[in-house]
Amino acid sequence: MLRLVVLTAFVFSAVIPLANPHEHHGDEAAESCEASPDIRVVADYRPGIITVDGHSDDWGGVEGFEFGLLPALDPDADKAYAGGKMSLKAVHDGRIVFFMLQVDGEYVYSQGANEKCPSVALMFQVGENATYHNMGGCKDMPGSCNNQTCRGHEVDIMHFSIGNAIPGRLYGSNMMDNSEGTGDDRFSHLVDAYAWNPHCRYLDGKGPSGNSSFAQNDWQGAWWHNTISFHSGLVIDDSPYAKGGAKGTYYFEFSRPLRTMDHSQQDVQFVIGQTSRVAAAFWFPSEGKPWSGSQHFSASCNWLPLDITAPSPSSSYTGSSSKSSWDAATAFALLLSVISFCLSVFVGYFASRNKSVPFTPIDRL
Ligand SMILES: *[C@@H]1O[C@H](CO)[C@@H](O)[C@H](O)[C@H]1NC(C)=O
Ligand SMILES: *[C@@H]1O[C@H](CO)[C@@H](O)[C@H](O)[C@H]1NC(C)=O
Ligand SMILES: *[C@@H]1O[C@H](CO)[C@@H](O)[C@H](O)[C@H]1NC(C)=O
Repeated sequence: MLRLVVLTAFVFSAVIPLANPHEHHGDEAAESCEASPDIRVVADYRPGIITVDGHSDDWGGVEGFEFGLLPALDPDADKAYAGGKMSLKAVHDGRIVFFMLQVDGEYVYSQGANEKCPSVALMFQVGENATYHNMGGCKDMPGSCNNQTCRGHEVDIMHFSIGNAIPGRLYGSNMMDNSEGTGDDRFSHLVDAYAWNPHCRYLDGKGPSGNSSFAQNDWQGAWWHNTISFHSGLVIDDSPYAKGGAKGTYYFEFSRPLRTMDHSQQDVQFVIGQTSRVAAAFWFPSEGKPWSGSQHFSASCNWLPLDITAPSPSSSYTGSSSKSSWDAATAFALLLSVISFCLSVFVGYFASRNKSVPFTPIDRL
């Protein structure tokens, strides 16, 4: 009996903290950001549907939310990004979570100049006291910000600058930078970073009080614009770009394992069945002018809840996969039995026609 009471108490204490964050998100969003009261990004379990290549065809059946893009530092509707909205989609396959950011905009690209190309970033809450405002909101500035003074204010940042990135090719996590223990990406600029505030922002593995050698870039991603014509090649010689000024849509596609081997609170850790907090940012070189780091648009003016959902037992994925494999086995068994039946009829017929089948004793061979 005592064990039952203890167990019940444990179950309730486990349920309540799970339910609370949901209410909390809603309240907080409604208070400080009227534009997106009940919006949440939902990453459902959809294994085996996403290829990270910058193309959006495979995302057709995934629902996303659309967000107006307001300047992050001055969220004034008059200064919204004029090109269109951002849509944000997510799914997971039980091990990896995938994101698709889609933004309408004319094709602007200056090869080699990151700030003259569009760019996107995702930011996640890591520390329990990390705010959306001021990227974690730690009060300490460079000189005094470190993993002790800013403890609890960590945010995880993925930033993709496409100036050196061939459309459709995969960037981010690579052996060279991971072997040096940093979140850098020397081939393009799809980096894994963290921050306590906008001034205390570092690549994973680097920091004000020394570099650890344990960090990794855990992100990968690709970009595309739908005015680029399809090429088989992913090399510069194929000139895999489009004509400037063409109206269309940008696609930025990313993947990251749900869990990483992070040692230092620099990566968000996702849990199936739980809610994380995300924000999305977009940079655009208006009128060809290069952007600066703080000049970006944001998909909301606070954290957006991100649900990593568990497959429900009745979900069509678990249901249909086991059903279809059962069907295949049954069909195969049926086919085998039909073949063996035909074979026995044939053998019987053959034997009855050749009445004088010669009998050869084995010892005479
Ligand atoms: C977050 O803030 C609360 C209240 O100020 C504090 O009690 C708690 O220790 C902080 N958490 C961390 C990880 O610093
Ligand atoms: C803070 O950073 C230093 C230097 O990288 C490291 O030695 C230390 O373990 C870190 N402390 C925590 C609590 O992560
Ligand atoms: C950390 O790495 C950066 C860049 O690689 C380097 O400039 C800095 O001196 C390193 N800091 C320490 C304390 O090793």
